[in-house]
Amino acid sequence: MSVSEGTLVDAARAARDRAIAPYSGFRVGAALATTDGRVFTGCNVENASYGLTVCAERVALLKALSEGARDFAAIVVVADTDAPTPPCGPCRQLLWEYCGDMPVTLANLQAVKAHHSCKELLPFPFDGRLL
Ligand code: THU
Repeated sequence: MSVSEGTLVDAARAARDRAIAPYSGFRVGAALATTDGRVFTGCNVENASYGLTVCAERVALLKALSEGARDFAAIVVVADTDAPTPPCGPCRQLLWEYCGDMPVTLANLQAVKAHHSCKELLPFPFDGRLL
């Protein structure tokens, strides 16, 4: 059972409303679908020690992994910007490791802005095959 992109966009927008971003004011939401049709959402969670901030994508992924999900189908990332907001480097690393070459959709509050894949976002990855 697959989750539609529209469902994921709606879930990511709703997750963004729960962002804890008092320092940057930059609120992000993410929605990650499993291949069996579950959706795990995340928002960015900031901290006064700025470097401890966790991005929306990683919150969604870690929630999913901690609930036992292992097979992922797609992720949508939402921010309130004209230019699409792509996952940062550390998020790309984790998405690649746990989700493989998964579609990554970037949207804002009005529309879907871009489609990418984990492979495209991290073309020359370090991963377990190299250990
Ligand atoms: N952020 C995300 O949550 N995801 C991204 O894809 C880019 C950046 C957050 C981290 C921080 O709370 C704020 O956006 C500004 O960098």
